[in-house]
Amino acid sequence: MVDEAKLNEFIGKVVSDMGGGAGVLLAFVGDRLGLYRAMAGAGSITADALAQKTGTNPRMIREWLASQAAGGYVSYDAKTGEYMLPEEQAMALAQEGGPAFMQGGFQILVSLFKDEQKIIEAVRTGRGLSWGDHDKCLFEGTERFFRPAYNANLIRNWIPALDGVEAKLVKGAKMADVGCGHGASTILLAKAYPNSKFYGFDYHEPSIEWAKKQAEKEGVADRVTFQVAKSTDFAGDDYDVVAFFDCLHDMADPYGAAAHTYRALKKKDGTMFIVEPYAEDRLEDNLNPLGRLFYSASTTVCVPASLAQGGPGLGAQAGEKRIREVVEKGGFTRFRRAMKSPVNLVYEARP
Ligand SMILES: C[S@@+](CC[C@H](N)C(=O)[O-])C[C@H]1O[C@@H](n2cnc3c(N)ncnc32)[C@H](O)[C@@H]1O
Repeated sequence: MVDEAKLNEFIGKVVSDMGGGAGVLLAFVGDRLGLYRAMAGAGSITADALAQKTGTNPRMIREWLASQAAGGYVSYDAKTGEYMLPEEQAMALAQEGGPAFMQGGFQILVSLFKDEQKIIEAVRTGRGLSWGDHDKCLFEGTERFFRPAYNANLIRNWIPALDGVEAKLVKGAKMADVGCGHGASTILLAKAYPNSKFYGFDYHEPSIEWAKKQAEKEGVADRVTFQVAKSTDFAGDDYDVVAFFDCLHDMADPYGAAAHTYRALKKKDGTMFIVEPYAEDRLEDNLNPLGRLFYSASTTVCVPASLAQGGPGLGAQAGEKRIREVVEKGGFTRFRRAMKSPVNLVYEARP
């Protein structure tokens, strides 16, 4: 017998998820049309004034604002008929690159809906879906989603948590950023440590082209080199540090990548620096909102990316035990979790 109360409770959850799903698209619309940016710091505003300020249609903006108010993204004053973007929401929705900026996440999700047929095929066949075969919205969304965490943590928290790495970078070291994507992390490092040389590698050519242009724009091209290469064959040796930011689990051959890194590092004294999404080792311990998000990203992007290259599909929720196994198989003898944040795990492996 169906328990009607349970059914209603579940339908309520689904309706809430559907509102959230539609909200993702409308948040992205707000980003693209500059609606949140126009509201940030502007105090209370009517729909007409917002439409005028952003060159958009007043009737449509009234509806968009109603959806935002119902979702708790903006506040609504029924007495005055005005809307307001509170400061905390403005940080998450309008402050590009800021520590709480979330728009990149919405952009990633929108890109996945654009790729829905490819994802259906990937799940049906297990043949995988290469990183480069996704809609290009994914690449920009990924950069915008990860950059805030790098801005907030990379130089201030993650590098200092590694054994002796900060001092080497300050003095002048050689560091590789493997699977660097658009190079947000590489460029940030190059700005922070002007005496060091940085080498960004990724097998996705358009991302490397983007990263090269960005390095020029940001004035660090003298100390950053970007090159198309796989994690198992990137050039150079005697690196002090080889980093993998949110990508080791995506790779064709994470074991081979660890082994190649082992060979490319300065013997005895190098550091493999790995940042991964936060995950516990056991599925049952990841059954929470963050786990839901990461397993979903993993189903649609990370596992198919690895399978498309003939890889093992470690998944975004690989967990510490599996990452340890990867680096130990690669030859490393010392491995530790250097730190954790609510969304990331930072590991250090030494020869
Ligand atoms: C989730 S993105 C992370 C990008 C970047 N590290 C960042 O934090 O913005 C994963 C990256 O891994 C790269 N990648 C996947 N497999 C690779 C491989 N076998 N060799 C080199 N790069 C690879 C993809 O092209 C993509 O840029």
